Amino acid sequence: MHDDMPRTARITGMGGALPERVLTNEDLERIVDTSDEWIATRTGIRQRHMVADDEALSDLVVRAGAAALEDAGLEPGEIDLFILATATPEQPIPATSAIVQPRLGLVNAACFDLSAACSGFVYAVNVARQFITTGEARRVLVVGAECLTRYVDWTDRTTCVLFGDGAGAIVLEPAEPGDGILRTAWRTDGRYADLIQMPGGGCRFPPNRPETLEARLPFIKMRGNETFKVAVRALTEISLGVLTEAGIEPGDLDLFIPHQANIRIIQAVGNRLGLPAEKVYINVDRVGNTSAASIPLAMIDAVRDGRLKRGDLALATAFGGGLTWASMLFRF
Ligand code: ACO
Repeated sequence: MHDDMPRTARITGMGGALPERVLTNEDLERIVDTSDEWIATRTGIRQRHMVADDEALSDLVVRAGAAALEDAGLEPGEIDLFILATATPEQPIPATSAIVQPRLGLVNAACFDLSAACSGFVYAVNVARQFITTGEARRVLVVGAECLTRYVDWTDRTTCVLFGDGAGAIVLEPAEPGDGILRTAWRTDGRYADLIQMPGGGCRFPPNRPETLEARLPFIKMRGNETFKVAVRALTEISLGVLTEAGIEPGDLDLFIPHQANIRIIQAVGNRLGLPAEKVYINVDRVGNTSAASIPLAMIDAVRDGRLKRGDLALATAFGGGLTWASMLFRF
């Protein structure tokens, strides 16, 4: 590994939150024309979590954030920056991070939301790392969280079976070179913006016009088959790029944590990286695609399962709407 790397950031605490309510494939069979067999074989998903009627994004973020702070052994007032990655904010104004701030007691933190769909968490880690590297921030709370089930079209079987709700949080603090976040990369290609989108609800098709709702515009729409091919290519290329820049081989990794959208995408990318199945983490069967929450929830589950241990070398790579994709190599 190169020894010219600057001061960086390491993960000192983690916490996750999933809504209590579970929606199984059998439950979906009663909502749309689908089957457990189709969903399980085409996506690997068996269940996903769904917020209750009186729950919203900030409730999940507060739970995950509080758990991460406790895990890091920090008081809320010690956090000086809070970045919330989400594509499903609680409301347009203010940012959901601002709604969360007083509930978590982050009295000294500047707060903002970051929108990069499923890549949002890795984007946010990259931003946080820059602030820590320059000394502008010392303790940063980064959360990826989504309430996707609120934006799913429950009449569209091609998308409603895929998505779930959840939140995953980490605390980042300064680290010496060679520890923590070692390399990151991020990419955007807006030429493919229409592959995954929610066209209504913003200023182009405002939610307060009846025709917006009549045309079913404030719902997630995805051209899944086309997205699949780009996802495999993009996830593979950026992962290999980060590893090459860091001067390490895929085989040196202890764990690869890919975005959890589809088990077939995960397996295809794992094969292209030449990784054995035991080095590729999968929890899409239990949570579905949770977009910005996907990577941190997978990291937390991997720690719980004993698959990611302190000192391990891991690569987390995300892909989603935008299109955006991003990767981070870290020593845990
Ligand atoms: N149940 C039963 N049949 C279904 C369902 C369903 N839930 N959904 C689609 N089908 C049918 C289709 O109608 C089609 O039928 P036809 O052949 O009669 O026309 C057939 O199954 C095959 O459809 P495809 O779309 O070609 O299925 P595919 O194998 O591509 O799987 C999927 C679809 C799961 C969406 C896959 O393409 C995928 O995972 N794509 C990538 C998703 C992704 O990576 N997203 C990025 C992140 S998302 C974000 O940023 C928010």
